[in-house]
Amino acid sequence: MKAIRKAVFPVAGLGTRFLPATKANPKEMLPIVDKPLIQFAAEEAVAAGIDVLIFIIGRNKSSIPDHFDKAYELEAELEASGKQEMLNIVRNILPSRIDCVYIRQAEALGLGHAVLCAQSVVGDEPFAVLLADDLISTNERSCLNQMVDIYSQHHCSILGIEQVARETVSRYGIIDSAQISDSLSKVNAIVEKPAIDKAPSNLAVVGRYILTPRIFKLLEMTERGAGNEIQLTDAIAKLLNEETVLGYEFDGKRFDCGSKSGYLQATVEFALQHPELKQEFESYLYDLVKK
Ligand code: G1P
Repeated sequence: MKAIRKAVFPVAGLGTRFLPATKANPKEMLPIVDKPLIQFAAEEAVAAGIDVLIFIIGRNKSSIPDHFDKAYELEAELEASGKQEMLNIVRNILPSRIDCVYIRQAEALGLGHAVLCAQSVVGDEPFAVLLADDLISTNERSCLNQMVDIYSQHHCSILGIEQVARETVSRYGIIDSAQISDSLSKVNAIVEKPAIDKAPSNLAVVGRYILTPRIFKLLEMTERGAGNEIQLTDAIAKLLNEETVLGYEFDGKRFDCGSKSGYLQATVEFALQHPELKQEFESYLYDLVKK
């Protein structure tokens, strides 16, 4: 059995919901308090034992490679002014054993196409996909960590899933499944962004996937689907005919940071846990709500 060593981060989307903030910057660089979304996702992957991070970037994405690169001038300035704590933060964005690979997706043809762009770097091994705008906070093991554990028992593709409000199913990939245990089910069908009356359930795929390399061949054969894009969901639907795919209801709380409301909720909750901020911010919120 091959271990999960590589993770793909599709970050080439246009981020139109956050314009003008995303005019010159990718939405994955939006911060939750003081850390960009992409760094949360990268840390989650690293905690799950991944050592190659593959970013599928588009136009305006140079700030992502810059973020994970060494910042000589900034480091020199922080060192000269004796700001050791800040220097440590800047130097330790990622552990030194981690390799970052950047692949340019010339055209925004969809999530499936973005994942396909990683084929030559991933090769013939199972891999993870993380969508950084789904920020998942957990108490102990990270969401991807939990999924890697499941993978090591079942050796098949695994989708992170959660129950969503029925009226929101048209925002997600929705599965039809047979329950195996409390948190695990066998996926029987999957459909991208169905209308409420066409949705097979309210179990939605969130932005965490472990996929076998077979998905690449299926993506190559996948035509444009919902939104006129090459959808990862459509290739997974083909994978179901050939291999077992499991849905895993992870232990944790997901924030949909691709929406303004989810982004603000994450900001508030992370601020309330932030060691520097929590006291001041909590009393500010308390006063605000009391009024
Ligand atoms: C993508 C996937 C969708 C999934 C969602 C999770 O959609 O296509 O199947 O449910 O991520 O966040 P997007 O949010 O990119 O429209």
